[in-house]
Order: sequence, then C-alpha cells, then structure tokens
Amino acid sequence: MTTRIIGTGRCLPETVVTNDYLSTIMDTSDEWISSRTGIKERRIVKNETTASMSAEAARQAMEDAGVTAEEIDLIIVGTLTGDYITPSTACEVQAAIGAVNAMAFDVNAACTGFIVALNTAHLYIQAGIYRTALVIGAETLSKIMDWNDRSTCVLFGDGAGAAIVRSNEKGIMSFVQGADGAKGLSLACKDRANNNPLVQNPKDLNYTAMNGQEVYKFAVTKVPECIHQVLEDANLTTDDIKYFILHQANIRIINSVAKRLKVSEDKFPISLDHCGNVSAASVPILLDEVNKNGLLQKGDKIVISGFGGGLTWGADIIEW
Ligand code: COA
Repeated sequence: MTTRIIGTGRCLPETVVTNDYLSTIMDTSDEWISSRTGIKERRIVKNETTASMSAEAARQAMEDAGVTAEEIDLIIVGTLTGDYITPSTACEVQAAIGAVNAMAFDVNAACTGFIVALNTAHLYIQAGIYRTALVIGAETLSKIMDWNDRSTCVLFGDGAGAAIVRSNEKGIMSFVQGADGAKGLSLACKDRANNNPLVQNPKDLNYTAMNGQEVYKFAVTKVPECIHQVLEDANLTTDDIKYFILHQANIRIINSVAKRLKVSEDKFPISLDHCGNVSAASVPILLDEVNKNGLLQKGDKIVISGFGGGLTWGADIIEW
C-alpha cells in the first residue's frame, strides 16, 4: 500500500500586490523583478492568517476528495510562519474544520515543507497507523520580510495549499529528501530576541536575509539531482512524467532545471507569476491549480519537488 492524493485545495489572500505597486513604495521596477524572477504580482494578507488560509484550503480539499472532517486521522502543516509558536497551525486548523479525530502538528522545512509533511503522512499511512491525512503548506511570509530590503521582499507572497491523502494501492511511488544545515544562513530568519534577565542588550527582531546567488546555485544543482534520484528509485525516466511541479521561487531556476533534465519547459507549470514565492505553500497551490484546471488524468505520473531554507530539498513521484 502507498498514499494517494484524493483531493486538493488552495486559498490566496484577497489583496493583489503588483510589481508596479511595489515600485511606488520602494526603489524597484516591474522590469527588474519580472526579468530576473518571472514574478508579476503576489498576494499579501491584510486580515487573513496562516491558519485561516489553511482552513479554507483544507475545506476545498475535503470537498474535492469527498471526505468529512471526522474521517481525517492526521493533520500536518508545513510552515515557517505559523500564527503562534504554540498552538501549531495544524491544531488551529483542526479546531476550525472540526477534525475531532485527528492528531495535528506542524513541520518546518521551509520551502520543502509541503514535501516533508506529505512524506511524513505517507510513512504513518504506510505503517498502518493512520488511513486519511490532511497535508497543508501555508505561509504568511509578508510578516517576516524586511520591507526596506528590496532584494528579498519583492520575491515572496502569502497563501496556502492543501491535499487530502489516503491509503491506496497507487500514489507515491518514490521520494527523497535531504538537508545541508552548514549552508543554512544563506537563507535565514532569526527568531525573536531572548530578553531573559541574564541576556544583556537583547537584539531586535530580525527579518529574512538571503544570499540570492548562493541559493540560486544550490537550487539549480540539487533539484535536478534529487529528481534523477526519485526517477531512478521508481524505475522511470523523464519521458514517463507528465508534469514537474516545482517550488515556485524563480522562473530562471525552473528553466535551468528543465534544461539540465533535458525536458521541455512546457512540462513545468507555473504559478510564480501571480503568487510569487510562497515557500511551503508553493507546491500545493500549484498542484491545486493543475488539478482544478483538469490537467491530470488517473494514472498520470508527476514529480513534485521543493527546495530552500535549511537548506533543504525533496522530491516525490506520484501516480495520480
Ligand atoms: N529592484 C531593483 N534593483 C534591485 C532589486 C530590486 N527589487 N533588488 C536588488 N537590486 C539591485 C541590487 O541592489 C544590485 O545592485 P548593484 O549591482 O548596484 O549593487 C543589483 O540589483 C543586483 O542585481 P543582480 O546581480 O542582477 O541580481 P541577481 O541576478 O543575483 O538576481 C535574485 C537577484 C534574488 C533575483 C537572484 O539571485 C535569485 O533569484 N536568487 C535565488 C533566490 C531565491 O529564489 N530564493 C528563494 C529560494 S527558496
């Protein structure tokens, strides 16, 4: 037995923030942002929270799957921007949707968060411990951006994507995941300052800081490598794959991965033009777009892959 995705959903904040709008509040331009990243606009929260977007994406995924809240045994949210340190976003979602029979917890693997959450649910399901799980990737990255740092804040957006997964004979065929903590500070956001009485001059809150070129180099080498690995583990080639659903960080990264895999860019659906980089939410949001656009038929094989903070990476092959 393995784990099948039986329903998907997504929720984006209402407010659209275009590159042109950003150029009115900081020294940037649509030309700079879109030519280097492919991003045209992103959604940013006003009243939405990580949990409220997660719960809405979950409701849509449950409807798509035809599953009730009571049937869910496990909720895992991949996020680095929960609303609280505790309770977890997963516990907030459990309460919001009434999944009274579910265990719930978050995982933080940054932009690989949805992949790691999915694989964790898969292993519980494969072990026979749970049958049905709700897996979410959700972020409110706008709250950890330095809005005076044009080199990072223009890249990211907010949103949530969800999938209902269930024990089945078809589904996840192989997965890989990995981490390189030694390179972690190339994409980092420090936690709150410790102001206990023993600490002198606690530092202010920090925001996201990134060495863009380091992260770029990491992504374009590690992603093709881990995709080759999952293909080999599943005894498949790139020709067997209908779509490569990659974390949406930058169009140049995606095109470079396509080139290195010798696969047409047409097999790489894109949502970064209208969502920006939504970290753990990127993959499930794009997966839901592809699913709801009717682009997937039963039996299709897809690759999903995430990469980013940690540094972390991962990929799965999934039979739809
Ligand atoms: N608008 C206008 N100019 C900007 C800018 C912005 N938003 N952000 C930075 N610049 C300026 C810099 O100040 C710098 O100017 P200088 O040369 O006068 O000092 C210049 O642009 C840097 O440009 P460039 O060297 O062309 O940047 P780049 O090609 O490295 O592109 C990134 C920058 C961030 C787009 C690129 O490194 C990248 O995409 N990296 C991967 C990041 C990523 O995806 N991270 C998340 C992974 S999960």
